[in-house]
Amino acid sequence: MNLLFIGDVVGSPGRDMVKEFLPKLKEKYRPNFTIINGENAAGGKGITEKIYREFLSQGAQAVTLGNHAWDNREIFEFIDSAKNMIRPANFPEGTPGKGLAFFKVNEFEIAVMNLQGRTFMSPLDCPFRKADELVQIARERTPFIFVDFHAEVTSEKQAMGWYLDGRVSAVIGTHTHVQTADNRILPGGTGYLSDVGMTGPYDGILGVDRELVLKRFLTSLPVRFEVPKSERNQLSAVYIELDRKTGLAKKIEPIQINDDHPFYS
Ligand SMILES: [Fe+2]
Ligand SMILES: [Fe+2]
Repeated sequence: MNLLFIGDVVGSPGRDMVKEFLPKLKEKYRPNFTIINGENAAGGKGITEKIYREFLSQGAQAVTLGNHAWDNREIFEFIDSAKNMIRPANFPEGTPGKGLAFFKVNEFEIAVMNLQGRTFMSPLDCPFRKADELVQIARERTPFIFVDFHAEVTSEKQAMGWYLDGRVSAVIGTHTHVQTADNRILPGGTGYLSDVGMTGPYDGILGVDRELVLKRFLTSLPVRFEVPKSERNQLSAVYIELDRKTGLAKKIEPIQINDDHPFYS
């Protein structure tokens, strides 16, 4: 079982990259299952039904979210019927949507889980205890369990990796929008990467127009962040190979596509 996970798609520059490179990545890596983090897909803030459907028609099977899940109000109209959409599982009880979903992949089944960290982020239920609860449910059905851990700090992400080591296939971080170089297979067999990185404008700051971000840093005045119209874009992803019996990781390879790291088929 091979997985491809594309990190936070930001606005139309990010969506253009998915459209252009997802077919090429599929041809190169032949993943059985593709996941996209879509929390920034609609102008950097949330996701719309049209974009969600676009991702599915382009060949993703699951779309995960994060702290920007509710930024576009349209989400409330379709999240409960969006079978392939997963939002952080440790959002308050009764929140729309779900944090764990199962998908058929040939003769197998894969569980996809989304959790959000708490350090320097909004207070939520404990992601570690929520992970315990959901991993137990998932393991009754399948050894293939993918976790998108949406968190700010590397310590909390590493902690989740070690906490779930041997119990899930992979713990991959999202949210910081910068890909880390610490891809590894933990001793228990869980594939780990602190952050997969962002898919969107290459010359912005974390996908935001850099002039606006600079203005905020230089003046401390409130600035409304926007996705720039950029000529140069990037795609960040990770490819993971899983053992077909144990569901544990055999290989984890980060993917960067931009002008400094061109794509080779
Ligand atoms: Fe993000
Ligand atoms: Fe985020």
